[in-house]
Amino acid sequence: MTDVKTIYLDDYQPPAFLIDKTALTFELEEQHTCVSSRLELRRNPAADNGEADLYLHGEELELLSLAIDGKPLDERYYQKEAGGLTLLAVPEHFTLECVTRIDPAQNTALEGLYLSNGMYCTQCEAEGFRKITYYLDRPDVMSEFETTIIAEAGRFSAMLSNGNCLSDETKDGKRIVRWHDPFKKPGYLFALVAGNLACLEDHFVTLSGREVLLQIYAEQKDLQKCDFAMQSLKNAMRWDEETYGREYDLDRFMVVAVDHFNMGAMENKGLNIFNTSCVLAHPKTTTDTGFQRVEAVVAHEYFHNWSGNRVTCRDWFQLSLKEGFTVLRDAQFSADMNSAAVKRIEDATLMRTVQFAEDAGPMAHPVRPDSYIEIGNFYTITVYEKGAEVVRMQSQLLGPETFRAACDLYFKRFDGQAVTCEDFVRCMEEASGRDLTQFRLWYQQAGTPELHISDRYDAQSRQYQLTVKQIVPPTAGQPHKEPMHIPLKMALYGEHNALPMVCDGGQLGLETVLDITKAEQTFVFDQVAEPPVPSLLRDFSAPVKVFYPYTPQDLQRLILQDSDGFSRWDAMQNLQLMVLQGMIDGAEDKKAQNLLTETLQQLLQTADNDDPALLALMLTLPAPRYMAEFYQEADPAAIDHAWRSLQQQLAAALQTQLLSLYQALEQSACGMGGPAMAARSLRNKALHYLMQLDKDDYRALCLEQFQTADNMTDQLAALATLVQSEHGGEHAGQALAQFYRQWSDETLVVNMWLQVQAVRPQADALQRVETLLSHPAFDYGNPNRIRALVGGFCQNFARFHAADGSGYRFLADQVVFLDRRNPQIAARLLGPLTQWRAYEPGRSRLMQETLQALLQQTQSRDVYEVVSKSLADS
Ligand code: TRP
Ligand code: ZN
Repeated sequence: MTDVKTIYLDDYQPPAFLIDKTALTFELEEQHTCVSSRLELRRNPAADNGEADLYLHGEELELLSLAIDGKPLDERYYQKEAGGLTLLAVPEHFTLECVTRIDPAQNTALEGLYLSNGMYCTQCEAEGFRKITYYLDRPDVMSEFETTIIAEAGRFSAMLSNGNCLSDETKDGKRIVRWHDPFKKPGYLFALVAGNLACLEDHFVTLSGREVLLQIYAEQKDLQKCDFAMQSLKNAMRWDEETYGREYDLDRFMVVAVDHFNMGAMENKGLNIFNTSCVLAHPKTTTDTGFQRVEAVVAHEYFHNWSGNRVTCRDWFQLSLKEGFTVLRDAQFSADMNSAAVKRIEDATLMRTVQFAEDAGPMAHPVRPDSYIEIGNFYTITVYEKGAEVVRMQSQLLGPETFRAACDLYFKRFDGQAVTCEDFVRCMEEASGRDLTQFRLWYQQAGTPELHISDRYDAQSRQYQLTVKQIVPPTAGQPHKEPMHIPLKMALYGEHNALPMVCDGGQLGLETVLDITKAEQTFVFDQVAEPPVPSLLRDFSAPVKVFYPYTPQDLQRLILQDSDGFSRWDAMQNLQLMVLQGMIDGAEDKKAQNLLTETLQQLLQTADNDDPALLALMLTLPAPRYMAEFYQEADPAAIDHAWRSLQQQLAAALQTQLLSLYQALEQSACGMGGPAMAARSLRNKALHYLMQLDKDDYRALCLEQFQTADNMTDQLAALATLVQSEHGGEHAGQALAQFYRQWSDETLVVNMWLQVQAVRPQADALQRVETLLSHPAFDYGNPNRIRALVGGFCQNFARFHAADGSGYRFLADQVVFLDRRNPQIAARLLGPLTQWRAYEPGRSRLMQETLQALLQQTQSRDVYEVVSKSLADS
């Protein structure tokens, strides 16, 4: 690898020039596309570096012509380099005209202008705009855009760009469509789409009475799958008005579905572009999880119109300014539309299973990173999900009304500007009068803080003492950490109910938030009538790990009594972990095991009183990759074995109840809507457990469900259970073949078919995956296919971590192959390998060797950064 350059936040300089207006003309032709740009440039008064030259970003562009103020530019006045172009000695204020030629058909990286199933589309975030034309491709250069799209008449039904349509005419066999976006924006929010697409239309009347045209564009065959996204969009628009006072600002809002997309979706101003997987939904072809994902992503991209577009990022180090905040906004929306407790548990699970691992590994970085080689590698769960938790904590500290006032101030003050995380926090401070100096560490310090909590109850004085020690572990480049400000929401539970809390003479009620700010703190509660069990980190009030020496009986008390859904589930996870760790460490805790079974039996007996979705989550054992985090040198085989054995034991102990639950829920699991989805999740969990037992009756149930299901949730659950349990027998192969025959025309369903096979626990899983790579349905050009099959296999804990290293080598081969075509996808696949330090010596060495071999073969900055950082100091 040559030309790797690290970019530092500390080196930030404002742009030397500004671009007031950007006019682009695209001539779309079969073999290539001509892009003519006309930029109105002027020296930035806020940056007086005296530099007379202007550097413009540009990659993979064929330069056809350049002119300044109408005069062609002589070759002596510019220099072309690998990443851009320097214009020498330019005037203070001038118009630059530039013509470049690009080749969308050869664009396999899916960045810039590319083709997806014959449709032209763009992806410019973060630095893709420079693959379209020479530009100041940085988010603090905001410009007013006008776009002209020219193509052969009749070639495309839809020719779209940002903003409002100015004109649409046909002349001399060409169709010419002009768009204007009145809102200034950085190049990363530019979008263009040209294709033969059908369109679903609707309208929305904003709070102030303006009518907005809503359009969802998709291939004709998929149009009947767009209704749910449209309803989600309208819900999101209304919700943002009611919750944040944010109104939509253009006359038109467009969403386009494309098959080939590196991520979930993109918030381009007025023209969101979506991965089909995040917009298309129909009960026959989409699971309930899929529906929820569509609702969340539609909302997320829509919410970016304010948190991201109207107020954008100064530089890419501030990515979490828009992503963390917007993820929080979409999470609040989803919580309001569905079960808030379930949503919170899902988010906490994601944090614990994926983000905590990232934060403990070699790619650990703060929510606001301070350096990067390739920004594409920083669209991480830390920036997104931990970033959302950091904004959530601020909203918790301020309280709902003050938080809303602080957000109003933020949007008002910075409308039309490119700003920083610091600007955001300052609004929180100003609106509340609180000092968030220490809180800012959440943006600067990487690593998951640990709270080690102990307590003491004195029956005589009826005093209860809680001592909290916090440790922030060292991470790459950050050996020493300061104590953080951690909001710890808690309650105390007596044998029969929650106990009121009195502290320093003040009544705290049944729930309180402790401000943890020091390395060690002790809190004293008075008038505590009986020895309590503390309910800690209620509602997952901070992205931290809590350690407290619960007994199984303590946990049972919380599981059965706690009023906080998250805490009940968390107590159950702790109890399950306790049992699993006993099994792994060869010190089986029969008492804990019996208590776990007994508690689950009790929950199943009173299932009617509970949210079935919550119950389904309580029946879900902690994921093996989360279990691995509790070991210095995790042994995947031992973890996997314990996990499977416990499932089998629970299935055996609970089978009568699970079976009657399965039957009892049949009616309520029909149709759509929250209650039906919840019932399905519990019913399918019951089926999953029953299939851990080798019984013809249960196999018959499963087959029956597979054959008769009228929705994808039930059909796929039955298929996955048949394929992944040891007792599916020959039915598994038959069901897979039938499923493929039934759905081979549904691209998104075929992804699920691939994934179900990729996560099979059987010993021949890798062989099967390799065979599937040559299946006609597989396509290296489509990231969804790669994620389903290759990414799916890497989630297959036992097989990916096969003791002979075959799983690791497989991943490395895939990465080498993809590195040249789609570096973003190649680098993202690498995640699991970077965790090599977390495993027992044998596997650890195999993983490390695989990475070392990879280092020799990498081409892209993307893969180079991940591999070299994971190997650092080894
Ligand atoms: N900003 C997008 C979001 O809503 C993320 C995104 C979409 C993206 N496509 C991308 C990021 C390509 C990097 C590269 O979260
Ligand atoms: Zn986003």
